[in-house]
Amino acid sequence: MRIEKILIANNEPSVQKALQEQLQHYRCKTVCVSTLSKAKLCVHQDDFDLVFLGTHFPDGQGIDLLSDLNEVPSTNEKPLIAVVLDYKFIDLGVSCLKAGAFDCILKPFSLSEVDMVLKKAEVYRHLSQVNHFFSSRDEDNCLLGECEAIKTVRSLIQKVASTDATVLITGENGTGKEVVAYEIYKQSHLCDKPYVTVNCAAIPENLIESEFFGHERGAFTHALQRRIGRFELANNGTILLDEIGEVSPNLQAKLLRVLQEKKCERVGGSESITLNVRVLASTNQDLHNAIKAGKFREDLFYRLNVFPIHVPPLRERGGDILLLANDFLNRYQKKYGIPLNGFSDSAKQALMAYNWPGNVRELQNVVERAVILSNGSPSIEPKMLNINAETAAAKNNDVCELLPLNEVEKRHILRVLEHTKGNRTRTASILNITTRTLSNKLKAYAANQH
Ligand SMILES: Nc1ncnc2c1ncn2[C@@H]1O[C@H](COP(=O)(O)OP(=O)(O)O)[C@@H](O)[C@H]1O
Ligand SMILES: [Mg+2]
Repeated sequence: MRIEKILIANNEPSVQKALQEQLQHYRCKTVCVSTLSKAKLCVHQDDFDLVFLGTHFPDGQGIDLLSDLNEVPSTNEKPLIAVVLDYKFIDLGVSCLKAGAFDCILKPFSLSEVDMVLKKAEVYRHLSQVNHFFSSRDEDNCLLGECEAIKTVRSLIQKVASTDATVLITGENGTGKEVVAYEIYKQSHLCDKPYVTVNCAAIPENLIESEFFGHERGAFTHALQRRIGRFELANNGTILLDEIGEVSPNLQAKLLRVLQEKKCERVGGSESITLNVRVLASTNQDLHNAIKAGKFREDLFYRLNVFPIHVPPLRERGGDILLLANDFLNRYQKKYGIPLNGFSDSAKQALMAYNWPGNVRELQNVVERAVILSNGSPSIEPKMLNINAETAAAKNNDVCELLPLNEVEKRHILRVLEHTKGNRTRTASILNITTRTLSNKLKAYAANQH
């Protein structure tokens, strides 16, 4: 990745001149400033790739620029800082490196030293861009929804994001637990630090410890090379222990120790690695039951459950079903290049009446399949959704019987009520009417029976 814009922040004209001359060989833009305040202004207002920073300025010390950059969390890339210093201030150089400087060069420097800094910076920039590409989630994947339950989740996310508290996210499969975890990370002050997830359910039992904590070469038969664990990769950032309920008791004990002591060892290693990691965990299991059944350690549960967030199932989110369905429809329409007008009224009804055991993930898949199947049709029809065969059949029967509208409505309401096992709040939410309206209708039906 080419270094395009360089700031020379130095109050010695001879250094400025030497750097400018040497940087002429590169096709990059350079800007010179001689005070710290101007340097600060430049890095905050413009996109510099690299700064050659002096140690002493009339208005402060070079290291202040580093602390200044560290204070502002930013998802944009910050400039790399190469400190230019006198041998007698070598200690200052070390402090700058500790504060996050990328490199140091000593005065007087040669062309090849400046060249080295640029080459290293290019490689570093490239790797960090690649990393950013792989770790950045689909921007479309933010937490959508306007129902009360999701608003509550959103406000909890907002409250907890800025703290370092451990969060336990619970909810059925496909409700969006990973989306919630990523929102917490994005809104936290660690948003420009690593975000690493481990899917505990997907890793075989015998490999999970080394996946968590890494291993040294030769630690076990197939450990041909040293491997860095996910905790170490997440250091100074955030880790999501996804599906934590799947972890074996043996590893639960190890995990608890790591969380308590804030350090870990690689498998087969003797050195202890200090960890400073914000922990998020998720599970689709009822951990209270797992504790009672002796499958999950109570002490680990309390460690993780500092701040619980429950993500409700989709069937309890009322109108959000259609909101999400429309969002997915737009996405897949674009993806497959199939223009559609939306869902037909009966398709909307089918979406609302279905109970979505696979939650948002299922809805997403159903909509994707429907878009593919829609080929040629102006809108999505119930048959393309391929859900709720029962309801669809019943609906056809209703039509065959040529029922009056109020009778169809009554049957539909009763069916939804049956589906929610008599829960009126949920029924009203699915039907998109108030509980009062629902109660009135039910009273009317009861009165007519007598
Ligand atoms: N509220 C939401 N808004 C938008 N997309 C969502 C929402 N909840 C879930 N999704 C999508 O549904 C799918 C499943 O979500 P995920 O977080 O993996 O669920 P879980 O981890 O609970 O099984 C993902 O593709 C995710 O992007
Ligand atoms: Mg998940």
